[in-house]
Amino acid sequence: MSMTVKSNIQWVGKIDWELRRFHGDEYSTHKGSSYNSYLIKEEKIALIDTVWGPYAKEFVANLAKEIDLGKIDYIIANHAESDHSGAFPELMRHIPQTPIYCTKNGAKILKGLYHQDWNFRIVKTGDKLSLGSKELVFIEAPMLHWPDSMFCYLTGDAVLFSNDAFGQHFASESMFNDRVDQAELFQECIKYYANILTPFSPMVIRKIKEVLGFNLPLDMICTSHGIIWRDKPAQIVEKYLEWADNYQENQVTILYDTMWNSTRVMAEQIAAGIGEADGEVTVKLYNLAKTDKNDVITEIFKSKAILVGSPTINNGILVHVAAILEEIKGLKFKNKKAGAFGSYGWSGESVKIVSQRLAESGFEVGDEGLRLTWSPDEASRQTCREYGMRFAGRV
Ligand code: FEO
Repeated sequence: MSMTVKSNIQWVGKIDWELRRFHGDEYSTHKGSSYNSYLIKEEKIALIDTVWGPYAKEFVANLAKEIDLGKIDYIIANHAESDHSGAFPELMRHIPQTPIYCTKNGAKILKGLYHQDWNFRIVKTGDKLSLGSKELVFIEAPMLHWPDSMFCYLTGDAVLFSNDAFGQHFASESMFNDRVDQAELFQECIKYYANILTPFSPMVIRKIKEVLGFNLPLDMICTSHGIIWRDKPAQIVEKYLEWADNYQENQVTILYDTMWNSTRVMAEQIAAGIGEADGEVTVKLYNLAKTDKNDVITEIFKSKAILVGSPTINNGILVHVAAILEEIKGLKFKNKKAGAFGSYGWSGESVKIVSQRLAESGFEVGDEGLRLTWSPDEASRQTCREYGMRFAGRV
């Protein structure tokens, strides 16, 4: 299967309708995904990226229907991660001498993954590859999101092949951004940014400003996952600049786990207190044991403040709470306030532990949190509502 992007650009990737977990079990893909590969047919023929390994044979067989593989002059590896390079061993079995253009780190990673000494050609920002009357211009984009990541830009057509950047895990036959449900599209875009790119936000801003500084016309952004931006492609670039700049909405998210519902009751009462104090703020509650981790991270990304609750167990905290705290530590959120709460029976360490971990992860923890014994009675519920009101005042 292939689809026409432009008269000289053919999409030759794979739509993965069944995918529900990505990066092993690390990322939920409720709407599937796609691995986008593009074939540019000019006087010279270039293939940009491939697909994930399980689809390698299918990919190469389809590609061979599109073009005699021996006629591919250049292969561009914008990114060495397995979802884009997985079909290389199968493809290179047919055309072992065809040059692969990639960054220095790209060659290193491809060698590390596949242990083959293919015909690598190392490129840097500003290097050009002539396809005849048009050129591919390479732009290194290290840590967006791997050390090897790279974009390339096709002159004449003004198409940016951005690989992971500006992409989304969103399977669609419709292919273009103006042909899909906008709410679904942007939900997958923000989830992708929140879960994958948050730690690299300073680099996102620097790289986008650098590319904008080239003053290149931009007609289309061909990503490596999901849809292609052809209608106002700059809109997703502007969104990235907004998201990279310590993004937040007027939202407080309350995350908790509970054993016998006491901490859940605390969460609900604190939420009521926040709502009482500030009728404008959006308050959302999630039981961490019952909610998809990546959806929770997206909500944290959108929040100006979070509250995290756990009962105490064996002098510690519940495992689903510990897991999300570990995740957010790595994501390096900035400019967000936080608080902790939880019920306990006797030792009661959970609130202190959660507060410490939030502070270590860069959240502004401005109070000691709220801990209560056993099941909250009416007086304790009032204490929770008052804590919620004070927290609303802080944020
Ligand atoms: Fe889509 Fe970083 O791989």
